[in-house]
Order: sequence, then structure tokens, then C-alpha cells
Amino acid sequence: RPAVEVAEQAGACFGVERALALVDRVLAEHDGSTGVHTLGPLIHNPAVVDGLAEQGVSVVGERDLGSLPGGDLVVLRTHGVVPSVVDEARAAGLEVADATCPYVKKVHHAARRLADEGYQVVVVGEQGHPEVEGILGHAPSAWVIGCAEDLDGRDVPKRVGVVVQTTQSKANLDAVIARLSSLAEEVRLFNTICEATSERQAAAAALARRADVMVVLGGRNSANTTRLAQICSTFAPTHHIEGADELDPAWLAGAALVGVTAGASTPASQIADLVAAIESVADPS
Ligand code: F3S
Repeated sequence: RPAVEVAEQAGACFGVERALALVDRVLAEHDGSTGVHTLGPLIHNPAVVDGLAEQGVSVVGERDLGSLPGGDLVVLRTHGVVPSVVDEARAAGLEVADATCPYVKKVHHAARRLADEGYQVVVVGEQGHPEVEGILGHAPSAWVIGCAEDLDGRDVPKRVGVVVQTTQSKANLDAVIARLSSLAEEVRLFNTICEATSERQAAAAALARRADVMVVLGGRNSANTTRLAQICSTFAPTHHIEGADELDPAWLAGAALVGVTAGASTPASQIADLVAAIESVADPS
């Protein structure tokens, strides 16, 4: 019967735990007379979002802000937002509870500071990702660069200041910095990669090296979970699932060690459910 091991660092990070605790607090203090909403799904985790919906928390978009009843409360998620969204919410008479991760706030401050100091700001990150959109709100003339090749054909100015989407890999950042250093006279870097991500990636790789099969738990729309699955798949057959119910017993056939890891949006309870499911498949008695 296979052993099941969870990566040393896996699942919900500091920022997500903090956001979930903030919403719990808001709901506990709330008397039900006004609505509670999150601006976009609070985290990339359908089970958590459904659980919040059952408690009356609705997901709204930026366009809805103007039409919500005054006095309602809007929770901003860990990814952060552009500053104008907060202004708009307040102007519409809404209360704002800010669950922006402090590490994301650091990126905002770094981007703003570099822009103020006259650098061409470069955000190493995924174009269109909400975190990157939020960063751009603090440095509107910044470039978003996904990889070193995105710099091809760009007229790079002398002074470039770089900030990084928190979930980016160090290897990609290094490649962009190497390319920029050959094009600009000064490259100032604020390495704002979040360690929660790299620690989870390192722990996932260490486990995947030893495991016969890896199961990665987390939203399919979660970039950091997808990245974990990618890393694991270089060492072992890997399956990315959103919940224990998606587990296929065939994956575990002949495995001596089943490795489990989970993205930053996966609460510990969901990891425990998956481990229990794997154990019951492995030992159906
Ligand atoms: Fe914050 Fe890092 Fe999590 S930036 S939301 S602690 S992945």
C-alpha cells in the first residue's frame, strides 16, 4: 500500500489565510442589515467561494460598484486593485475592507517609487493578471514583460526599474534582468517575488523527485497551482485536481509513494480531505 506524503510547504499562504480571516471577522461582526461582497472571487478556490456564497457573500465586479446599496461592504482580495477602484467604491458610499496581501502592497510601493524617481518601470509578470493590473494602477506607464523575449524591439531607456509579480519564478526574472542589463545603463531591481511561492515550489520539487506520482490540488485558474503542477511534472507523473472527488484510483496503481502538494489558495482542510481520499483508495478495506 502506498505511503502518502504532503510537501513540507503546501497550501494557503500567509496572504490567503489573512484574507480568509478578515472575511470571517467581517461576517462575525456583521448584523446582516447590509450586504457583503468580494470584488472578484476572494481566492482562486471554487469550494471556498461557494462556502462564502452560502453565508451570503456575493462576488461583484468593478462595474457593479456604482449600483450596490450605500453602506454595503466590499472586500478587496489579496491580488490588490488599482487605487481608483477604492476611490470609486468610497464615492459610491461603500465600505471597503482591504485584504490586499502586504507583499503585494510592497510591489505597489516599489513601482510607484521607481516611477516617481524617473525610471521606466518594468513589471515582470503576466499581462492581464489582476495583480499586474493593480500594480499598473500605481505606475501607469509601466511595461509588462512576461519573458526576456518580450523586450525584443523595445526602445529601452537608460534607467529601468524592475518590480516583479509575486508569483513569478526567479529563473524568469533572472533572464529578463540579464536581457535588460545588456540594453539599459542602469537596472534597478526590487525583487518582489513572494517566498511563499518559491518555498512551495522547492518543497514540491523535493517531494516529486522521490514520489512515484504527484497530486497537485488547487484551482485550475490559479497561476501558482498550475506552476506547481508544471514543476512536479518534470520529476513524476502529475495530476492537477480541484478537489478530492476528482481523484482517479488508476493514478495510484503500483505507486509506493504518492506526493501531495497544493497551491497558495488551498486551505489545509482541503489538503486533509485529499490525503484521506488517497488513503482510502490505497486501502479500500
Ligand atoms: Fe501574499 Fe505571497 Fe500569498 S504575495 S497572497 S503571501 S503567495
